[in-house]
Amino acid sequence: MNPSRRKFLKGVGVASAGAAIAEHLWNEAEAKEEQTATPQTVSGATKITLDVNGLKRTVEVEPRTTLLNTLRNHLEPAVTGPKLVCDAGTCGACTVLLDGKPVYSCLVLAVDATNKKITTVEGLGSPEQPSAVQAAFVEHDALMCGFCTPGFVTTISAYLKKNPNPSLEEVREACKGNFCRCGTYPRVFEAALAAAKASSSSSQV
Ligand code: FES
Ligand code: FES
Repeated sequence: MNPSRRKFLKGVGVASAGAAIAEHLWNEAEAKEEQTATPQTVSGATKITLDVNGLKRTVEVEPRTTLLNTLRNHLEPAVTGPKLVCDAGTCGACTVLLDGKPVYSCLVLAVDATNKKITTVEGLGSPEQPSAVQAAFVEHDALMCGFCTPGFVTTISAYLKKNPNPSLEEVREACKGNFCRCGTYPRVFEAALAAAKASSSSSQV
């Protein structure tokens, strides 16, 4: 509890016996505040190591730097699969997996992504060996400008691990955090269902 708040509370508090109780309560409140206080303040450029697609990448960033910004603008070589579109957590173009869970990397601070496995669309497969979802996107022509594609591929890849045999409705629901301004949704959903089917005979998503 800061001194001015204590002074204020004491100023409006009760006298004598009441004051003793109030003091006890203040001390309790103080102890609770100390327990929940942020243990460490980070400021200035900070060296961190990220696990990106299985590689340890050390980089120096300010604590306010988002994971998306770090991947695209601070790593050398850069990881540009996740796209910067809204930078406000509304479109899904920047989706990456953190320990297998899809997140908007424009809403995650890089310093909070240390000790987690970061998987971008590049980590799911390669042009030579695409994952089932990547191959299905190509086969079903599930993109126009392609800006939203890495986000959809990443989201769908994670979802099919959770639900290997989804219905169209379930795929639509799973993709509700990703927007395609070109309106390629029907083909994106087709590709997702095709990837699920292809993966049912193999374990690869
Ligand atoms: S760029 Fe992150 S949600 Fe749009
Ligand atoms: S293909 Fe252009 S935004 Fe989706």
